[in-house]
Parts: sequence; structure tokens; C-alpha cells
Amino acid sequence: MAERKPLISGNWKMHMNHLEAIAFIQKLSYALDQADYASADVSIHPPFTNLRSAQTVLDADSIPIALGAQHCHWAESGAFTGEVSPAMLAKLAVRYVIAGHSERRQIFGEADEQVNRRLKAILGAGMTPIMCCGETLQEREANQAEARIAAQVDAGLAGLKRDQVGAMVVAYEPVWAIGTGHTATPDDAQAGCALIRDRVRANFGADAAAGVRIQYGGSVKPANVAELMAQPDIDGALVGGASLEAESFSRIVRFRLQ
Ligand code: 13P
Repeated sequence: MAERKPLISGNWKMHMNHLEAIAFIQKLSYALDQADYASADVSIHPPFTNLRSAQTVLDADSIPIALGAQHCHWAESGAFTGEVSPAMLAKLAVRYVIAGHSERRQIFGEADEQVNRRLKAILGAGMTPIMCCGETLQEREANQAEARIAAQVDAGLAGLKRDQVGAMVVAYEPVWAIGTGHTATPDDAQAGCALIRDRVRANFGADAAAGVRIQYGGSVKPANVAELMAQPDIDGALVGGASLEAESFSRIVRFRLQ
């Protein structure tokens, strides 16, 4: 099986202004060294208003942390008040863009079809999507978790090319584990990620399944990251709350030392 380098991503959600972002990045860069970057790829996903400042600091100090965004529209430009296009993000050296986070699905009514359009636009602009999927507590209790995840993966990735899927990232984020402190057990997280890889294999073949990086997200902390990352189908973490402190995020990046 292909060796997949772990990707540890910090999703800041709607936290920190641009000055706080600059201070955070500097602090994080002091906490990480070349050995850390060699063992894991690292991305941070600040709010849109911080991207320019973050890019300047990362570039000026040659910090090998990838810049990420949390969302984008699919059109290149147009009358879409409040939206940001993939081309605008690419121009700021954004490398990864989250699409279909459960907060966007639940609070802003985003549907699989829109997630799919976003993925195509992100890829078209030369960036890497991180597509989120995961079941709610209600779906889990009704034994619908597997069907829900499979449906999100099938619809979200529809029409993509095999090599595009093999080079992208999917995040399994069970909604009941996000921001609740209730991390999925390593076995449950592994089962969700394995299911995603199986769907990718069924739809796009063995090479795409071997290449796609699958993150787990939902209350990842320094204390639980190592056992999650030890699972065969978990290739990284999408971290919310614990990514807002340089100390805890750097410890998550260095999960092998926990
Ligand atoms: P928490 O790590 O705060 O549970 O958030 C997870 C998440 O939603 C990352 O995208």
C-alpha cells in the first residue's frame, strides 16, 4: 500500500483576528522543527480575513505550514454577495480548502450537490479539497451512520477523476464528536475511515483508495491523537478547538511523541 504522509489540519472556525493569527503562527513555528514537518504535513485554516497576513508570515519566515481555507464558492467570480472564489484563494497561496464541513451543512443548509460543485472548483483552481462527511447522533442511533457516510462520499466525489480523488483529502467527522469532548473511540473512528476508503475503492479503484488521505476529526486532543493515528485507515486529523492554542496543536502534530 502507498505510504500516506499524515496531514494534521487546524480548522480555526470563526476564531482569531489577523493580529492574533500572526502571533499564533509565530508561536507555532517556534514549537515545531524540521523533524516534525518531515513526519507530518501541517495546515492551518484561519478565517478569510486572516489569510493575507498568515500568508505573509509563512512566506517571509519560510515556515513549511500549508495555508488552508474553510470554505469557498464554486464560481470564479460573479454576483455572489459574501462569497469568496477558489481563484482568490489560490492567489493567496492557499493549498487546502475544506468543503462540506458539518457546520456548513447544518447551519447554512449546504447539500451534497453543492459540496460536489465546490470540490470541482477547488481542484480546478489547483488546490486540494478536504471534504468532510459524518453522521449525526440521530443517524447513528437509528443505525443509519454507514448509509449516510456512503451517500455523502458518493455524492460529494461524483464525477471526479481517479487521480484527483487519489490526491485529495476526506475527513470523517462524526457530528456528535465535534466540539463535544466525546471523541470517537479509535475503533469507531477507524471503522468510519475504512468505510470511506472502501467507497473510494468501489467508485474510483485501488490506486485512488491507496492514495486518498482520510482524516479523523471530532474532539482530537494531545491525549487521544496517538491512538487515533495508530489506526490503519486514519491518515491525519482535522482539529477544531485544540488547534487554537499553539501548545496543544504542536503536541498534536508531534503525535508520535505522545
Ligand atoms: P473539535 O476538534 O473542536 O471537536 O472540532 C472538530 C472539527 O469540526 C474540525 O473541523
